[in-house]
Amino acid sequence: MKACMVKLGIFVAMVVLLFGLTTFGLSASADYSSPKDDIYLTLVNKDHRLPVGWEDKIELETAYNFQGEEFQVERETLRHFESLRDDLLLQGIDIELDSTYRTIDGQIDVWEWFRNEGYSDDYCFSHLAIPGFSEHHTGLAIDIGIIKDGVFINDNDEMIAEREIFAKIHERLADHGFILRYPPDRENSTGYSYEPWHFRYVGEEHAKFMTEFGMTLEEYLEMLPA
Ligand code: DAL
Ligand code: ZN
Repeated sequence: MKACMVKLGIFVAMVVLLFGLTTFGLSASADYSSPKDDIYLTLVNKDHRLPVGWEDKIELETAYNFQGEEFQVERETLRHFESLRDDLLLQGIDIELDSTYRTIDGQIDVWEWFRNEGYSDDYCFSHLAIPGFSEHHTGLAIDIGIIKDGVFINDNDEMIAEREIFAKIHERLADHGFILRYPPDRENSTGYSYEPWHFRYVGEEHAKFMTEFGMTLEEYLEMLPA
């Protein structure tokens, strides 16, 4: 009960602070802009397509996984993914890039792959964004696979079965600025089923807040002042 009150107190304090910063100009910096202007808080979901001109706002960098596959990832997102990966390696957990930035054509290819594998309409619509509406277009989203006992696991069902490993991975996300973007049982908010492998970079401060209070990105943005 006491812990609950402390959490509520922190939550209220954060809301008041964020509201004060934007409404009354309490920021130390004269050019303070709303947290909603932060590109790392950009919302892309079933109702919000990739903003026009997005590619001009970010810098993509090339990265490789252990198989030598090439990926493009937004610069800060990649830097933080690398720190997350190093951190987890110290615990004996090896996470590897499996899917990152996707063009519209890349998202069409993902749909075709799932269709060819025989996945149902229900499965596809609760796990795959319509091209143009995927967070993967931002370069801020990363799907991982894990190497376990020398085997690369990147199949959706197999990853969901690896509860213990993913619980340890999820514990470390916020410290590196990531959120678990599609948590279990939050489809009503995010639009998608549980994806233990899909991480979204938002920055450490925001990630810690959302994680602490169990908020989705949609809920967090709703709470922030306009
Ligand atoms: N799997 C996520 C929802 C996507 O396709 O962007
Ligand atoms: Zn993903």
